[in-house]
This record gives sequence, structure tokens and C-alpha cells, in this order.
Amino acid sequence: MELKNKNAIITGGGGAIGSEIAKRFLEEGARVIVTDNNQKALDGVYDKLKGMGEIFTKSADVTDESSVLDLVNFAEKQFSGGRIDILANVAGIAPFKHFIDTDIESFQKVMDINLKGTFLVSRMVSKKMISSGGGSIINMSSTNGILAEEGLTGYNASKAAIILLSKTMALELGKYGIRANSVCPGWIRTELQDKSGLPREMIDNYIKKIPLGRSGKTSEVADLFVFLASDRSSFITGTEIVIDGGQICQE
Ligand SMILES: NC(=O)c1ccc[n+]([C@@H]2O[C@H](COP(=O)([O-])OP(=O)(O)OC[C@H]3O[C@@H](n4cnc5c(N)ncnc54)[C@H](O)[C@@H]3O)[C@@H](O)[C@H]2O)c1
Repeated sequence: MELKNKNAIITGGGGAIGSEIAKRFLEEGARVIVTDNNQKALDGVYDKLKGMGEIFTKSADVTDESSVLDLVNFAEKQFSGGRIDILANVAGIAPFKHFIDTDIESFQKVMDINLKGTFLVSRMVSKKMISSGGGSIINMSSTNGILAEEGLTGYNASKAAIILLSKTMALELGKYGIRANSVCPGWIRTELQDKSGLPREMIDNYIKKIPLGRSGKTSEVADLFVFLASDRSSFITGTEIVIDGGQICQE
């Protein structure tokens, strides 16, 4: 078991990838707090995973400082010694809007959830990790944080910023034993794409560009989170790991 006795928080844990990460963390022996701003999704994840180990759910909005503070206080109470060893920042949205049509509200919203949310939760959890002697923070970026994609203006910008935010965290927090990395998935088949209204043609074009000839699985992304959360990645910090079936090596 890679994460035995480790305490983990997963934001966006009600979603497709976040809930899979929660499942894999539990399988590896971690105690897990799954958090999301969608209570119904949290209830569903709890029902599905409760038999697998120590799982708690807590509703929180990652864009709201007092809500994040509540979450961290909740973690301190639930976890032995109040320690948080692992933070996976997975909450995110991907609205499909061309640059010229992007209004300030939708731009602000995607930056708030994807970037400000990652910053806020990481900052509060880091303070706890500093006092408990270290931890691993894994921030969900995307291949869109490395290469731009038409129609995802705010998303591209937010995911690129997450990579540099993570590097800054790695620089400043290394001396406390805290590692910070980002994960850049390519095409992972989930409901997110359907909700964002991506055109069918765009989906087909994606698959054509992937050398492995298929979209990725949520379980494959979750396995990478397990690795970065575990002591096996103890000398890896300040980097971004692409998991895309080879897609962006040819773009
Ligand atoms: N699916 C892909 O192909 C893909 C590729 C690259 C990166 N990603 C990233 O992975 C992450 C998860 O994606 P997914 O496909 O599981 O999407 P999803 O929509 O299933 O999950 C996202 C979760 O974030 C939650 N959330 C949204 N706003 C929130 C807020 N303010 N506070 C707390 N929670 C909030 C949602 O309720 C949802 O449960 C996202 O950050 C996404 O950008 C996904």
C-alpha cells in the first residue's frame, strides 16, 4: 500500500477524475476527505466508496476563503494529529468560449475556480503542512496549460498559470518538506467535455492526434496522482507531468 496512514484532501472529488483519485487513494490505504461544492455528487461518491476505507465528505467552495477555512478545520478534526499529508486540487471547469466572445464574467469564473481555488486551498493547507513537517500537493493542470486550444480562452490561461503557481510553491515550500507538482492530462473521457459543449468534430479530431489512438482513462490519471502523493516520488517537485497518450509531442 503506497499511501498507508496518509491523510489526503481531494477537491473536485465529486467529479469524474476526483472521485477516481479518491478511490485509488483509499485502495492505497489513505484516509480521504472528498470535497466539492456539489453536495449531491459528494453523497453519490460517499455511497460508492464508503466500504473501501476511511472516507469523509465535506461540501466546500474552493473560491470562497471562509469555506476553505471550514474545510481545513474539518480536516484537522477528522485526521489523526490534525495532519494533512496530501492535497489534490482537482476542482475545475472548462467553459467553451472563443476569445472574442469571452465576457468578463465567464473569464473571471474560470480563473476563480481553476486558479484562485488552487491557490486558496494550497495556501491554507501548506500552513498546516509546514507545522506537521511536510506533504505533497498535486495541482490539476492540463495539456491546455502547455499548448493553447481554440475556444478554451480562460481555461488555457488558468491551466498555464497553475503550472507556474505550482513551481513557485515548490520553490518556496521545499525547505519545509512540501513538494508541489502539476499534472497535465490530455483527452480523458468524462462528462466534463459533454457539459462544456465541445463540438463532436473536435472530439474526433482529438482522437486522431493521439499516438496511442484512444482517449485516456480516469484510472490512469488517478494512478499518476497516487505516484505523486506517495514517497516513491520523494525527489520530484516543481514539475509538470503530461499524461496524454503522446498527443502533444506532435503539436
Ligand atoms: N476530463 C479531461 O479530459 C481533463 C483533461 C485535463 C484536465 N482535466 C481537469 O481535471 C479536473 C477534473 O475534471 P473532470 O473531468 O473530473 O470534471 P468534473 O466536472 O467531473 O469534475 C470537476 C468537479 O469540480 C467541482 N467544482 C466546480 N466548481 C467548484 C467549486 N467552486 N468548488 C468546489 N468544487 C467545484 C464540480 O462540482 C465537479 O464535481 C478539472 O480541473 C479539469 O480541468 C480534465
